[in-house]
Amino acid sequence: MTDLTRGWARQQDAVDELAFLRDRVYRPDPELLYLDGNSLGMLPMATRERMHRLIDEEWGRNLVRGWQHWATLPLDVGDRIGTLIGAAPGQVVVCDSISVNLYKLAVASLQAQPGRKVLVTDTGNFPSDRYVLQGVAERCKGQLRLVPTDPVLGVTLDNVRTYLADDVALVAFSHVDYRSAAINDVVTLTEQAHRAGALVLWDLAHSVGSVPIDLDAVGVDFAVGCTYKYLNAGPGAPAFLYVRRDLQDRLANPIQGWWSAADPFDMEAPYTPAAGIGQWQTGTAPIPGLVAVDVGAGLLAEAGVDRLREKSIRLTEYLIALTDAWLTPLGFAVASTRDPERRGGHVVLANDEAYRISLAATAAGVVGDARPPNLLRLTPAPLTTSFADVWEAVSRLRDLVASNAHLALPAQRARIT
Ligand SMILES: Cc1ncc(COP(=O)(O)O)c(C=O)c1O
Repeated sequence: MTDLTRGWARQQDAVDELAFLRDRVYRPDPELLYLDGNSLGMLPMATRERMHRLIDEEWGRNLVRGWQHWATLPLDVGDRIGTLIGAAPGQVVVCDSISVNLYKLAVASLQAQPGRKVLVTDTGNFPSDRYVLQGVAERCKGQLRLVPTDPVLGVTLDNVRTYLADDVALVAFSHVDYRSAAINDVVTLTEQAHRAGALVLWDLAHSVGSVPIDLDAVGVDFAVGCTYKYLNAGPGAPAFLYVRRDLQDRLANPIQGWWSAADPFDMEAPYTPAAGIGQWQTGTAPIPGLVAVDVGAGLLAEAGVDRLREKSIRLTEYLIALTDAWLTPLGFAVASTRDPERRGGHVVLANDEAYRISLAATAAGVVGDARPPNLLRLTPAPLTTSFADVWEAVSRLRDLVASNAHLALPAQRARIT
């Protein structure tokens, strides 16, 4: 049985080899317990310094001359992210948002395989993924096929089988489910989709820097991911995309922006796509965001994704043990799988008052978030969270729910949760 004393949590922190990283992020409010790093990661101290240098020296002083070294950042930082997701150099580029990158790859997949008109995803995939795929299917005169998502286990092989046939162009799932935290089985599902002759795309938004993945070894065709969650690159920092090397020039980017061209400054020439992964860019690279991605990816590389994952499992197991002891008697239920091998970096708790509890928790200095229909999402990001933080967060939640403090708050959902 887990020891539920604060002393035990402190002992774990004392021997945690990643504990030093907790002080690498900006903490203007030392009392704040931040359990929402899978929505927006914290601000690394190194990013503050790097941003100041970018603004004062690189932009302020160098002005347009900065492009001499900024121009290759999308590919250089892409390679750095590649080391976190098992991608050899030259297959990852940092650009656009997940939504735009998914659009480019979905259209390219349909256009490269005229006999295949179907896109497959799952009913519980992140809304933007479903919306983009639905729009692409409609505009390309194709069809979107939706596999039912298990609310705890995510996409199961048994469910997927009946949705795959020789008319499927692309199968797109999330590696870690944004609500339940279920880890989908990348190896088996990729193999199954390939057996049907389809291309496969994985959305790594909730896994990059949190749950290891080995894209090259598995033979994944495409991946997309964002950098503002576990990569701590800040609000609106650019996303990334991975295209397996041998597909990069066989498929065409449907958004032929100048940054996807072979020579962007040969302005008289007709469009010729860049060779390799560079073709998958669109327009001007967002340099402040890219610089922040560079620092964030460096921090994760220093920690090591395997070590982070190991700590993350221990933190989420501890969070669940505290929940069972203190929150279940108050009406919460653990809604993520209890199998740590199948659970990503966050835990969801079901409670019909999840939204108001999330508001009250924020007021009490415990920041998580609520997701419909009745879920409270809590993320002890291993880079920035200690065992003592988890102990303190769950005890504050217990106290506020026991006192019914949340019932005084408005039940009407705000636009942003
Ligand atoms: C799983 C997943 N996919 C896609 C997105 C959307 O990403 P973007 O805003 O970069 O298009 C998110 C955003 O949180 C997400 O969690």
